[in-house]
Amino acid sequence: MVLVLDFGSQYNQLITRRIREFGVYSELHSHRLTAEEIKRMNPIGIILSGGPNSVYEENSFRCDPELFDLDIPVLGICYGMQLMSHHFGGKVDSANESEYGKADITVQGRSKLFANMPEQQTVWMSHRDKVIAPPEGFQIDAVNPSCPIAAMSNEENKLYGVQFHPEVRHTEYGNQLLKQFVFDVCGAEANWSMESFIEIEVEKIQQQVGDRKVLCALSGGVDSSVVAALIHRAIGDQLTCIFVDHGLLRKGEADQVMETFSEGFHMNVIKVDAQERFLSKLKGVADPEKKRKIIGNEFIYVFDDEADKLKDMDFLAQGTLYTDIIESGTETAQTIKSHHNVGGLPEDMQFELIEPLDTLFKDEVRALGTELGLPDDIVWRQPFPGPGLAIRVLGEVTEEKLAIVRESDAVLRDEVKKSGLERDIWQYFTVLPDFRSVGVMGDARTYDYTIGIRAVTSIDGMTSDWARIPYDVLERISTRIVNEVDHVNRIVYDVTSKPPATIEWE
Ligand code: XMP
Repeated sequence: MVLVLDFGSQYNQLITRRIREFGVYSELHSHRLTAEEIKRMNPIGIILSGGPNSVYEENSFRCDPELFDLDIPVLGICYGMQLMSHHFGGKVDSANESEYGKADITVQGRSKLFANMPEQQTVWMSHRDKVIAPPEGFQIDAVNPSCPIAAMSNEENKLYGVQFHPEVRHTEYGNQLLKQFVFDVCGAEANWSMESFIEIEVEKIQQQVGDRKVLCALSGGVDSSVVAALIHRAIGDQLTCIFVDHGLLRKGEADQVMETFSEGFHMNVIKVDAQERFLSKLKGVADPEKKRKIIGNEFIYVFDDEADKLKDMDFLAQGTLYTDIIESGTETAQTIKSHHNVGGLPEDMQFELIEPLDTLFKDEVRALGTELGLPDDIVWRQPFPGPGLAIRVLGEVTEEKLAIVRESDAVLRDEVKKSGLERDIWQYFTVLPDFRSVGVMGDARTYDYTIGIRAVTSIDGMTSDWARIPYDVLERISTRIVNEVDHVNRIVYDVTSKPPATIEWE
């Protein structure tokens, strides 16, 4: 395992990603780990990430200085290199101007990091402070006009530093440099794969659970589906899943979940038909935030009721991902966000938690799902909000309106699939605004609903752009919806990005 210590750089997750892509397992942890804790983790190499601090600031992030005595190779990146330099008595200059963007470096030493690389390279810089005199015993490996020490090393003690960011794609030879650190300096072997992950996790789950029982809230989303499939692989019938059908799911979704898990995987899945319970609570409520709150609370009540009936459950399985842990757990001020748990389940539930995906990134979870035999429809499912179709029926939710959204959404999904755009569009759905307009069908006047089509491209849902769906595809979608879905006579396409709009309309 290669340990990456987090000093708050916006690129820190990328370092871990790159190393895993080489087939070597890597974890990102807080810079607060003690040398003793690090020793117990037994990493083959340590990478100190970049960060926004200056080593001269009183409260800047530090690492346990004893980690340099563990006889484990260390690579410091940006702030990590400055920290290493400061520790060994080099000189760090707090410059006023920063260097941000592409820069050219000249390689002059031939440390293992730069072996077999050209002398001139383009790299990605993002720093204010810089090392201006290396510590004793270190050689300068690369220079650039604004940064006299772009890279340095002490090969005898396996200590390396680079001022630029090798993990960022704009650094031409960044991947090669990281590979040379991981394989040539640390002596890693490429043996990390999803297959080995499953083997290791199955054994861990078996040991943790023993002959006790695990409960899982299954939503049909990627994360909870993969958690359920993985735990089932480990402990079979000791796992029970609760699937709450709140009546706000897309067309065919509830059946698909039951078919996949109950019939396909032969899992114990308790399906709770709670449509009426949710709809009656939503009656007369038009405010989006109130709708969300009602659905969130009701979900907890329903889940609680069912869990109570099961009595002898010891663990609650959650699809917490690595990003959730990083965002809440590494204490670097810029990235802190509260840790959310599945469906907002209450914290006073008397369960031990089991979170087997908490070292994985989203795309790794997808790869794991495929490896476990889950169908593509689940593994590649687009994000779907917890409150479901209730926030796509604007205003009060009624059964009639839900049916219109559900049917029009099914047509949209079908046409997107047929046109092969499924994986290019991040999220796509229909919404039902709370108004009607005049149209003409046959020879008769109609006064019916409008359907809005929302389709966006995005990386993480935080920002998005509207998807450029070809006109002929849009035309087919429009024609089919007005013909196949009752009470719809007009289709509009949402061409706003986020910001200023949001992805959902409520
Ligand atoms: P917005 O509309 O905020 O959506 O741009 C960003 C992403 O989050 C999803 N979303 C939700 N997911 N519970 C969820 O689990 C919610 O209440 C919720 N609201 C929005 C939305 O579908 C999009 O992917």
